[in-house]
This record gives sequence, C-alpha cells and structure tokens, in this order.
Amino acid sequence: MLESKQTPLISAAKADDIDGIESLLAPNVKKQLVLARSKEDILSHLANFLVARDGGRLIGCAALRGFGEGLYEIRSLAVAEDCSGRGIGTRLVEACLEKAVGQDGNLVFTLTLRPNLFRRLGFTEVPIKTFHRDDKFREKIWADCRQCPKFDACNEIALVKKLK
Ligand SMILES: CC(C)(COP(=O)(O)OP(=O)(O)OC[C@H]1O[C@@H](n2cnc3c(N)ncnc32)[C@H](O)[C@@H]1OP(=O)(O)O)[C@@H](O)C(=O)NCCC(=O)NCCS
Repeated sequence: MLESKQTPLISAAKADDIDGIESLLAPNVKKQLVLARSKEDILSHLANFLVARDGGRLIGCAALRGFGEGLYEIRSLAVAEDCSGRGIGTRLVEACLEKAVGQDGNLVFTLTLRPNLFRRLGFTEVPIKTFHRDDKFREKIWADCRQCPKFDACNEIALVKKLK
C-alpha cells in the first residue's frame, strides 16, 4: 500500500538504497522474472539505478545499462507487490527513457515477460531469435543470455524503442 498521499518520487539511487533494491529484486529473481543481482553488482552499477520512493520506503527500481554507441537496456525493473498497478512501473520506465535521451541514447531495448507495459510506451517487439542473432545486441547476449539456462528455449519478449 502507498503510505504517502503524494505521487511516489523517482530519483537516482543512493548507496543507502542497495539493500532495498536487493529486497525488491529478490522475490522476482526467485520467480525468474529478473536476473539475480548481488549487492556488489548493484553497488558497482549504482549509477544505472533509478528508484521510486513512497515517504521513506523504497517501492520500485529500474536500471538503465549502457552498451555504448547510444544503445541502452532497461533491466532490473521491480515494484513492491503491494504497490503494483498504480503506474509506478510505467513511471520508472519513462524515467529510464528520459535518462537515455539525456545521455544521447538512440535505441533502448528490454527483455521482459511484461511486454504490455513497454508497448504502451512505444516499444515494439523483435522476435527473440532475431534478437539473439542481431550483432547490435552481441554484448548483451554474451554477458547475460549465453549464461542463461533458458537461452535455447527463451520465453522472454524482446522489445526495442528508437529514441531518434
Ligand atoms: C512489472 C512491474 C514492474 C509493473 O509495475 P507496476 O507498478 O505494477 O506497473 P504499472 O502500474 O505501471 O502497470 C501495471 C498494470 O497496470 C495497468 N495499467 C497501467 N497503466 C495503464 C494504462 N495507461 N492503460 C491501461 N492499463 C494500464 C495494466 O494492467 C498494467 O499491466 P500490464 O503492463 O501488464 O498491461 C511489477 O509488476 C513487477 O515488479 N513485476 C515483477 C518483476 C517483473 O516482471 N519485472 C519486469 C522485468 S523487465
């Protein structure tokens, strides 16, 4: 439940948020909805994270990972279950898109089991096999997909959005 009457604030993550981010991700890692991130991994990529706060409580997070040449990925998106369906996930994705635009991004992609949220924001689907074979995404494929036990039977939906 949202405590505060004000709209949850989206901001850059701080070192104090690491435990909260880990707690938001953990149940979704178990459900294989997001990839596992250790505290060390979150800390070393803290600058990528945006968080949503309701009063003092961390209720959502998302990360924008850069691959160079204007290519970005939205990952580690999670909202506390008791705060879902209130537009917080959408606002986190919008904030990531704004951040990517501010960093001269030209293409943002995501791999997700919740495509509608992204479709509403103008993302379009790329067949997963096409995504896996596309040279643009090779760094992502080698960093994450190739290590994934589901690689050959991937059920994630790949979506992309051009920023310019
Ligand atoms: C996916 C997740 C981040 C969504 O967070 P959220 O705060 O509930 O997201 P929103 O409130 O913006 O949207 C949720 C639902 O509200 C409804 N909704 C929100 N805005 C809407 C709009 N403008 N029009 C119609 N429906 C809308 C939709 O039913 C939407 O579900 P859908 O996107 O699957 O269609 C959250 O459920 C979560 O943490 N899931 C587990 C982890 C996960 O799957 N992460 C995604 C990996 S990329």
